[in-house]
Amino acid sequence: RAKVAILISGSGTNMAALLYAAKHPECPYEVVLVGSNDPAAAGLQLAKAEGIATFAHPHKGMERAAHDAVMDEAIRAADAEYVALAGYMRILTPEFVAQWEGRMLNIHPSLLPKYKGLHTHERALAAGDSHGGASVHLVTAELDDGPILGQMSVAIIPGDSADTLAARVKFAEHQLYPTILSDYVSRYDNPDWLLAKVEALALALPETH
Ligand code: GAR
Repeated sequence: RAKVAILISGSGTNMAALLYAAKHPECPYEVVLVGSNDPAAAGLQLAKAEGIATFAHPHKGMERAAHDAVMDEAIRAADAEYVALAGYMRILTPEFVAQWEGRMLNIHPSLLPKYKGLHTHERALAAGDSHGGASVHLVTAELDDGPILGQMSVAIIPGDSADTLAARVKFAEHQLYPTILSDYVSRYDNPDWLLAKVEALALALPETH
């Protein structure tokens, strides 16, 4: 099974979805590490309780590149082949991104390319959109800009607030992320599939392929 490190900063519900999907015997990936920039991140406790190795190193007072390097070292020490960002609220250095090009995925709470960055649900509501949603994409140096691997849309209903919409989008995220990660790792060594997928999306292929 493909070895995946998950990075979190908060509650870790997407991490939990990825962990529990991996308990299925046919899941093509296993989680070898959950790492965080916040030792108090709630998701770390759950990961530990589930018998997964955890690692935390606060970013405060550190240069961005130095902190990324510490995370990178922990990920490599765990023998991870892929990195899944799951609410990891750090901007990554281009050097760190380059190390994992084509092997680092992120989940973002909007239908990209709409609403990169923060406050995605507020912005969808303010725009009067009929749907919000979530996207899983490959991480590139540009924020929330890498090739999109999968998306799920979520209806906005009358009376929605950013909080009610965020909660509904999370249900979609918890379905989407394990599915897309499984799909990606199981076909990673098939360049034809990757090329067709990326071409279909009319997006640039990561350089390593
Ligand atoms: C998720 O909604 C994820 O899409 C979002 O943070 C939340 C983390 O929740 N990520 C970003 O906004 C990245 N820019 P979780 O800790 O419960 O998985």
